[in-house]
Amino acid sequence: IDRKGNEIKQRTRLDFANKVILAPMVRVGTLPMRLLSLDYGADIVYTEELIDWKFLKSIRRVNDVLGTIDYLDSSDGTVVFRTCEKERDKVVVQLGTSDPCRALRVAKLIENDVAAIDINMGCPKEFSLKGGMGAALLTQPEKAKTILSNLVQNVSIPVTCKIRVFEDINDTLNLVKSLASTGISAIGVHGRTKLERPQHPNRCETIRKIAECLDIPVIANGGSREIENYSDIFKFKEQCGSSSVMIARTAEGNCSVFRQDGMKHLEEVIKDYLKYAVDYDNSPCNTKYCVQNMLKELQETPRGKKFLECQTLEQICAIWDLGDYCRQKQLEYQSKGILSRREIGP
Ligand code: FNR
Repeated sequence: IDRKGNEIKQRTRLDFANKVILAPMVRVGTLPMRLLSLDYGADIVYTEELIDWKFLKSIRRVNDVLGTIDYLDSSDGTVVFRTCEKERDKVVVQLGTSDPCRALRVAKLIENDVAAIDINMGCPKEFSLKGGMGAALLTQPEKAKTILSNLVQNVSIPVTCKIRVFEDINDTLNLVKSLASTGISAIGVHGRTKLERPQHPNRCETIRKIAECLDIPVIANGGSREIENYSDIFKFKEQCGSSSVMIARTAEGNCSVFRQDGMKHLEEVIKDYLKYAVDYDNSPCNTKYCVQNMLKELQETPRGKKFLECQTLEQICAIWDLGDYCRQKQLEYQSKGILSRREIGP
């Protein structure tokens, strides 16, 4: 109870040991995918990478109709980040940043709405590197450390980072020791170098050495090529000797990989996904992108081709017999005054 007599909910600090985690994925890790992954059994879910200045020019709004907290772009009203109570103690926001002050300003803005904050130090894309973000931070360890320690010292929730490895094991160990000295709560390690692509083998031995030399939980990543089902997750964890595991591509294709009781058929997963997309008014464009990534080569089938022509959420839902469900929800939301973009377009 605070001084004004309001009840304050005591929040338990997110613990990263022994967890199975949805990895950060641009455009994939939006609210419907995160909630579905949690339903299926993921312990922690990371958001897509969100760039610091996008957050800083957004406005926080409580959305009573959806039961969400929205960060809306102040110029066009689009959703930068949408979250809800159901995930609050399990969602980690991944930030793209190159600046300790901006990172802290974002962290202060969102710290009561999320469970932890992660700094992306692995993205090899030109956009990130040019902006001094992502993997650019691996070669600027002093800046990387300042970003992390500034957050650790000034926010109430755990801070983590996600890195790639160097060719040289000793360089990698020096880096992780130095990053861990800032007081971060865990470190995600994708076992590939900045120049290596998904088809290259993952350096599980390097992850093992990192896990051996750090006291904080190491979250092994990069195993999707070998992870086809729930038990494979633990084979990968074993191989890496890590405390936790983080999965991207396998979950992107079928997030029921988190289910202890085995994978669900893709048709069912898509239906479950679409219900969340409707319930949380996910944009048709993002919904279509995520379903496309689940369908993969099935996009070539007649049904897949019909799906590719869809422009609205209702059209997409109709293919999975959820057209009525979508229409009714949208009518309800419209009557309550939610006016989000209904069509995919330029
Ligand atoms: C990614 N990855 C990624 N990493 C990150 O730190 N922030 C991000 O926003 C993204 N975005 C992203 C989008 C998509 C579509 C994919 C497939 C991947 C990398 C990802 O988190 C992970 O490190 C790699 O995919 C390796 O793990 P898996 O796929 O072998 O489990």
